[in-house]
Amino acid sequence: MATNGKADTSSEEETETIISTAIETGESRDRGPTESPRTVVTARDLDVYYGQERALDGVDIEIPENRVTAIIGPSGCGKSTFLRCINRMNDGIDACRVDGELRFHGTDVYDQGIDPVALRRKIGMVFQKPNPFPKSIYDNVAYGLRVQGRAGEVDLDAAVERALRSAALWDEVKDQLDSSGLDLSGGQQQRLCIARAIAPDPEVILMDEPASALDPIATAKVEDLIDDLAEEYTVVIVTHNMQQAARISDRTAVFLTGGELVEFDDTAKVFENPDHDRVEDYITGKFG
Ligand SMILES: Nc1ncnc2c1ncn2[C@@H]1O[C@H](COP(=O)(O)OP(=O)(O)OP(=O)(O)O)[C@@H](O)[C@H]1O
Ligand SMILES: [Mg+2]
Repeated sequence: MATNGKADTSSEEETETIISTAIETGESRDRGPTESPRTVVTARDLDVYYGQERALDGVDIEIPENRVTAIIGPSGCGKSTFLRCINRMNDGIDACRVDGELRFHGTDVYDQGIDPVALRRKIGMVFQKPNPFPKSIYDNVAYGLRVQGRAGEVDLDAAVERALRSAALWDEVKDQLDSSGLDLSGGQQQRLCIARAIAPDPEVILMDEPASALDPIATAKVEDLIDDLAEEYTVVIVTHNMQQAARISDRTAVFLTGGELVEFDDTAKVFENPDHDRVEDYITGKFG
C-alpha cells in the first residue's frame, strides 16, 4: 500500500499561518442560515477491499447538503476509493468489494434495484486530469443529456449555456462553442468538465483533486467556482492541498493510512483544534 504522501508545505509554522489565514478570512463559508443542513450521503461501517487488501475500514460519515465537504489524507489512504463508492464508479473494478452501508437520501446505493447510470445522473464526477471528449465544447456539455435520452425534452441550447455559466466558462467560450474542447487551456478544460458534470443537473458533484493539475490562477478560478456551486449542489472534494481544504470547505474528513476516517468535523475545528493527535500531526506536516 502506498503511504508516502507528504503535506504540502515545508514548515509547520508556515502551514499553520496559511491555514489560520484561510480560516479567518472564511469568506467561502458564509452559506446563510445556520440551521443544520440535510444529510445527502451516509456511510455506515463501510469497508472496501481490493482482493484481500482492505482500502477502507469502517467508515461512518454523513455528508451535508449544499455544503462543500473536503476529504484529505495521505496517499493511499482511500480517498479516491471512498469517492468512487458514492456513485459506484468502483463497479468497473473486478477486485473491488464493498461491505456496509452507503446511502443516498436513505436508499442503499448498492441495492440490487439501483441503476448505476441513473445514480450517476444524480451524482456527477470530475477527475484530477481534465478529460474533455474529442468533441466540440457544445457537444461536451450536451453529452450527458443526450446519453440519458433527455436532449428532446429540454432546451439543449439553454441547458448548455446554463451549465457553462455555472462553470464560469460561458464568457470565455460563447463565441466558439463549435471548436474542440481539447483546444482549451488546462484550466478551461477543467471548467468544461465541470460544466459537463453539472449539465444533467445532478445533486452531488464529486471531485477528485480537480485543481491539482492546474496553475495557481486556474486553481483560484476553480476554487471560486466550487464555492458558487455549493449554493445549488452538494460538493465532495478530495484534495492534497491543505490550504485549499481550509479555504473552500465547510466540513473536512481526514482519512489516515489503513483507510480509517479518523476525524470529520467543521473545517475550522479540524484545522484549528483537531481531536486526534494523529490528525494534528498530519495537518502540521509531521507525517504524510
Ligand atoms: N483498482 C485498484 N486495484 C487494487 N488496489 C487498488 C485499486 N485502486 C486503489 N487501490 C488500493 O487501495 C488503496 C487506496 O487507494 P486510493 O486510490 O483510494 O487512495 P487515495 O487516498 O486516493 O490516494 P492518492 O492520494 O494517492 O490518490 C491503496 O492501497 C491502493 O493501492
Ligand atoms: Mg486518489
